[in-house]
Amino acid sequence: MARFLPEDFIEEVRMQNDIVDVISEYLVLKPSGKGFFALCPFHSEKTASFHVYPEKQIYHCFGCGVGGNVFSFIMAIENIGFVDAVKMLAERVGMHLPETYDSDQYEAIKSRNEVIYAINTQAARYYHNMLISKKGEWALKYLLDRGLDMRTIRIFGLGFAPDGWNNIRDYLLEKGFEEKLLIESGIIVARKGSVYDRFRNRIMFPIINQSGYVVGFGGRVMDDSVPKYLNTSESPVFNKSNVLFGLNLAKKERPLTHIIIVEGYMDVITLYRYGYHNAVASLGTALTPEQAGLIRRYAGEAIIAYDGDTAGQQAALRAIGVLTKAGCDVKVAKFPKGSDPDDILREYGKSYFDKLLKEAVSSIDFKLDILQRDYDLTDEEERVKYAIEAARILSEVENILERDVHIRRLEDITGFRAELIYRQIDIIKSKNRDISVKRTNLGNNRHTSLNISNKSKSSHIIAERGLINLMAQNEKIAREVMERLKDYSFQLDIHQEIVSIIDRILQDNKELNIAQVFNYVHDAEKIQQMIEIFSVQNEYDNMGKYIDDCIKTLKEYKLKEDWKNIQAKLADMEKSTTYDIEEHRQLLEKAQELNRQILVLERERRE
Ligand code: UTP
Ligand code: MN
Repeated sequence: MARFLPEDFIEEVRMQNDIVDVISEYLVLKPSGKGFFALCPFHSEKTASFHVYPEKQIYHCFGCGVGGNVFSFIMAIENIGFVDAVKMLAERVGMHLPETYDSDQYEAIKSRNEVIYAINTQAARYYHNMLISKKGEWALKYLLDRGLDMRTIRIFGLGFAPDGWNNIRDYLLEKGFEEKLLIESGIIVARKGSVYDRFRNRIMFPIINQSGYVVGFGGRVMDDSVPKYLNTSESPVFNKSNVLFGLNLAKKERPLTHIIIVEGYMDVITLYRYGYHNAVASLGTALTPEQAGLIRRYAGEAIIAYDGDTAGQQAALRAIGVLTKAGCDVKVAKFPKGSDPDDILREYGKSYFDKLLKEAVSSIDFKLDILQRDYDLTDEEERVKYAIEAARILSEVENILERDVHIRRLEDITGFRAELIYRQIDIIKSKNRDISVKRTNLGNNRHTSLNISNKSKSSHIIAERGLINLMAQNEKIAREVMERLKDYSFQLDIHQEIVSIIDRILQDNKELNIAQVFNYVHDAEKIQQMIEIFSVQNEYDNMGKYIDDCIKTLKEYKLKEDWKNIQAKLADMEKSTTYDIEEHRQLLEKAQELNRQILVLERERRE
């Protein structure tokens, strides 16, 4: 998001709003050690794992991973954007917003979006009224025939767009909305010189985002014509990839231990009707990282409940990847082929559906299951192939006890001894490590994922992290490290980004501290990655020596990478018969020089 408020102002607001004061207006804080703790408001828990650090002016929940500075807290708890959070905290301490061109522009955008929300709300009301009027008789009958009751219809605000080209257009123009904004909202379409209603003779499903705004609509035909569902096109307030149908209701559930992810609007609605108020659906597209992030924000566990056909299973596999990356525990409920949750509930009832949910399998079990279908395990050769692929899947399981359970089961299925399966997993893991080293050799391909446990983090990543942590808290250290690592680029994107932010803070002559760094990041996922980095306490006896060691580790890492690159180039050259001997000689010398430097560093490290 673009910044519309001057940074000085933002920092002033932050300094005036002590994080402990602000958070204690929402939660009961208990003192502990250097800070405070509380029950986390962002996930359900019985033991307090939400910590507030007065010194760093940040918070972090060890249970669900959320965290940030005072602005991120307000954004999350009030469900508002960054600019609104700044405004709210400014008002809290009686500060006035600066009058700048940028903030005018912001006001203009904000008021345009507000008009679009108003248009959508009015449209939703209109469609709903049509549904319960004479004109909507058939549509209402269609919904009741599909098992819905009036209460559910009202809760979801379902409606009916009557046939005809100008119904909603005339209605909203009459209400005083400008045609231009009606077009921007996507409720009417301008094409080839004519302007007309997008939705005609369809059942209407308002799409309400997690903040409670109507951002768009889905419209279903009542026969077999196509497209079955028509959705609002992208608009300034509607982006399919960051909304989940039903999340506005699901997020109100307490406790919200898990969210059920389904494929369709009707699945969410029928589930609601049967008492499951925690279902959401993406809007006809594959689950996106943004949507996974939203789910993670409200619940730690997701149960995928997609159609039992092949397409549904493929979609489930993709969703597992996205959700796991976002930090969710994932389970998959298995349905009969060709049935979605809506069908199942209506055909077999709630107790059967409950059973399917209870039998939902872990994402690993699901992957293994799907895999097994491709192999004939009575055939020896296929059994070997299956075991290798299964070991590949198991190499992702970090928890060794959990992995052991799977390995024993695999032993039963394939007849290979557990010991051999363990060995195979080790081989795969060491290969994966080689591949990732090769990738970094190729240049820009940095590690982007942070989902690596501390154990498996390589030493240069740990050193980068340690340095960044100190840099963000102390201007002198920041300047020194940047000077000494001029030629080094940090290997994790998020690390490099933090260093750039620190650089900018210094260039702007602003006070450098961790909370200030957070002011420059408004993306929820990044804030979460940052909190992971900053909530760690560095451990060292002597800070100066610790910094030196980290810098040495990074220099050594870079030398080794450079050396590997040169070796690769030399190998390539030697493969061809016509290489330039002079160039080859120079590279060789360079490699030897690097080698000398590496040896020096290694010796120093040992001393
Ligand atoms: P499905 O085709 O599985 O429909 O599409 P459904 O949800 O079971 O709907 P019913 O039960 O036939 O009424 C799943 C989802 O994909 C999107 C919609 O969000 C739908 O709910 N979709 C489907 C579209 O956007 N456009 C289409 O033409 C079809
Ligand atoms: Mn369906």
